[in-house]
Amino acid sequence: ARIRHYRWEVKYEFKSPDCYRKLSITINGRTPGPSILAEQGDTIVIDLKNSLLTENVAIHWHGIRQIGTPWADGTEGVTQCPILPGDTFRYKFVVDRAGTYLYHAHYGMQREAGLYGSIRVALPAGEAEPFSYDYDRSIILNDWYHKSTYEQAAGLSSVPFVWVGDPESLLIQGKGRFNCSSPGIAAGVCNATNPECSPYVLTVVPGKTYRLRIGSLTALASLSFEVEGHNMTVVEADGHYVEPFVVKNLFIYSGETYSVLITADQDPSRNYWVVSKMVSRNNTVPSGLAVFNYYPNHPTRSPPTVPPSGPLWNDIEPRVNQSLAIKSHPGYIHPPPQTSDRVIILLNTQNRINGSVKWSINNVSFTLPHTPYLVSLKHDLLHTFNQTPPPDVINGYETYDINNPPPNLSFTTSNSLYRLKFNTTVDIVLQNANMIANNNSETHPWHLHGHDFWVLGYGRGKFNVSEDPKTYNLANPIMKNTVPVHPYGWTALRFVADNPGVWAFHCHIESHFYMGMGAVFEEGIDKVGKLPSSIMGCGDSKRFIRP
Ligand code: C2O
Ligand code: CU
Repeated sequence: ARIRHYRWEVKYEFKSPDCYRKLSITINGRTPGPSILAEQGDTIVIDLKNSLLTENVAIHWHGIRQIGTPWADGTEGVTQCPILPGDTFRYKFVVDRAGTYLYHAHYGMQREAGLYGSIRVALPAGEAEPFSYDYDRSIILNDWYHKSTYEQAAGLSSVPFVWVGDPESLLIQGKGRFNCSSPGIAAGVCNATNPECSPYVLTVVPGKTYRLRIGSLTALASLSFEVEGHNMTVVEADGHYVEPFVVKNLFIYSGETYSVLITADQDPSRNYWVVSKMVSRNNTVPSGLAVFNYYPNHPTRSPPTVPPSGPLWNDIEPRVNQSLAIKSHPGYIHPPPQTSDRVIILLNTQNRINGSVKWSINNVSFTLPHTPYLVSLKHDLLHTFNQTPPPDVINGYETYDINNPPPNLSFTTSNSLYRLKFNTTVDIVLQNANMIANNNSETHPWHLHGHDFWVLGYGRGKFNVSEDPKTYNLANPIMKNTVPVHPYGWTALRFVADNPGVWAFHCHIESHFYMGMGAVFEEGIDKVGKLPSSIMGCGDSKRFIRP
């Protein structure tokens, strides 16, 4: 195993990823940032210099479990203090499992300003994957807003509440296309011929098979991804091999990664569209387009066809079916414990307080503490956050009507957390429900830090505590770190609380987490090693760095 050392400088720069000039956060001048390429077992060292001038930062390594290094998880308020302007922070951790992962800002709503990238961990030399391909490529799908993160965050926190709305465009590997002749665009801000927004080109050699690693880091959008005229075989999800299955379009939610195999087996005399389309919310966002370029056709030659229009935004069935199709590859089954020690049912509701809108989990809208939990729990600074834990299930869950708006909009905001007994097996049932508006329930991709979980099942409607667990897949469930809960449905997960630390669990929609859609789990805090002082300095953690 090697040590891979990166020096990154994080800065604001004007970029035009969709032809519209916007202040974006870059790493070493780029957004998406540099890819981390490593081999299983390698140690990654990133010296991150914050050159944002007037803004803090923190970066999370999404999908890396941080076994033994919970302080390197990069979650502001949970595992570290933010990195101050001018400071350099060292992240050091081991990538212990091959697969496709991501990284992104985890401070405020900074991720959507462009601070993100991909992590590709290869198998050690001599070990083979259970599938073969000729070339390996990575792309990240994203959505893109023209308003600044600050304007968005301020709107979400104000009275009256200002929703962020739909993104202006969809990006494929950092490139999209906004219509510069849209009304109200100031002169000089949008330039359709700027090479920064020329579409991403994936050049393929006829007859060859490509492993395409696809990650989504959208702020809001659920996506359908397809390559015109080509099937895709899904082989990996969140770093785990899946029993291969073929799709025409892949549904992908923020925080998920997949590998698909695509063979360039179509008419090689032309190029094809690569399409990313927003689903699950009624929207008019134009699809993101890239070019699937058959060598030796010219990469800028437009495909002769109209891009495929993709599935209907409100067709839930194929999305649920894809979720159900994802099983562990038969050669790589990690069987889950057959029973659990604790069941936590998390009811996802939208609530209103004094004219502002929040998301709540079991009637608790989550807020981050000012002193990172990791420090306060390790050093017994328990006064720094609310000590009343959120409930494992709400009173009256049995009779709660998920098909109608919440009957009672009352809830509390709290920075309390769940404390899990070390090494116990925990089941989480995510229960979706109707939002404040009638006939509306959206998809939420939930991401767990520090763990992979088994996906035991998905269901329609209200989870039945006595019957539904009988339908769990305990034989070959996939392990993932991010999973959708579909509209009006439930999703059940299981994990073992065996990674000492404090771990965030939240909806990966940036504005939803900001509006309180999250929770935090602590386990084995007494087994966490000595905390580096570099994660301290804010809130009450200051006391540890004073001489
Ligand atoms: Cu990729 Cu806590 O997020
Ligand atoms: Cu959400």
